[in-house]
Amino acid sequence: MNYSRIYLNILTENRNGITYITINRPKQLNALNAETIDELNNAILLAEKDKLVRCIIITGSEDKAFIAGADIKEFTNYSKKEGEELARKGQELLCDLVENCGTPSIAAINGFALGGGLELAMACHIRISSINAKMGLPEVSLGVIPGYGGTQRLANLVGKGKAMEMITTAGMISAEEAKSWGLINHFCKQEELLPLAEKIASKIMRNSPMAITRAIKAVNAGFKDGVNGFEVEKKEFGNCFESEEFKEGTKAFLEKRKANF
Ligand code: CAA
Repeated sequence: MNYSRIYLNILTENRNGITYITINRPKQLNALNAETIDELNNAILLAEKDKLVRCIIITGSEDKAFIAGADIKEFTNYSKKEGEELARKGQELLCDLVENCGTPSIAAINGFALGGGLELAMACHIRISSINAKMGLPEVSLGVIPGYGGTQRLANLVGKGKAMEMITTAGMISAEEAKSWGLINHFCKQEELLPLAEKIASKIMRNSPMAITRAIKAVNAGFKDGVNGFEVEKKEFGNCFESEEFKEGTKAFLEKRKANF
């Protein structure tokens, strides 16, 4: 796998321990085509491998859209087999990768987050949005269903009843509604969105990256079929005790100073 290359559809920047990934197809409202998924996969793997990167912020270019879904033009003539493969790639190369990434991610939803766009945001560990954002899974209006994990992650985040309403009506909800439903954690003015994401990232970055990676694994375990989250938690809790970061964290507490992770 080639881990570093020049991207055509996304912008990436590493600054102060954060990898910023911006989907940059504003003329298509940042819709996700196959090439963009491939580039996002590459950028996320690269960020996860880099020990200096402690948080990933994913956003969309310009003010109108985070991501308006999968690129509809790309799949209109797909067969059943190609459709299934599209969903497999969107899930495995992108959304599952983000969700299981040991580096925490924040979706900074700066406008429309629809279909595959909301599905990517839901795979991130934390979601915040600007007040103008609109979120929805409009796939059934196109004669298809959410395919990048939306039927599962939306129900997990907001409950089955609300997920059923959002999916079957293909409706969009506002930032206020999304917050009251538990779909996003916070919303703010557009110009405050990245500063808010950075504020959350800076709180994350004070903590042990090793412990955060293990905590992500344990939380996710509870949402996986056939996996006992409590058992994973016990094992990962124990694993922490072997690490230098645990020694530093506890030592710093006893010495009444900030831990240096
Ligand atoms: N795919 C491809 N192109 C898209 C797109 C998408 N998902 N969403 C927007 N665009 C394109 C439009 O075709 C348009 O291009 P042209 O200028 O070449 O015509 C451009 O972006 C601007 O869009 P609009 O003119 O439609 O802008 P608007 O302000 O009138 O409407 C919108 C905005 C309500 C978001 C509307 O663009 C829209 O409904 N987009 C599609 C949303 C959608 O259905 N998403 C789900 C996709 S399917 C999916 O994601 C499957 C899955 O689960 C993986």
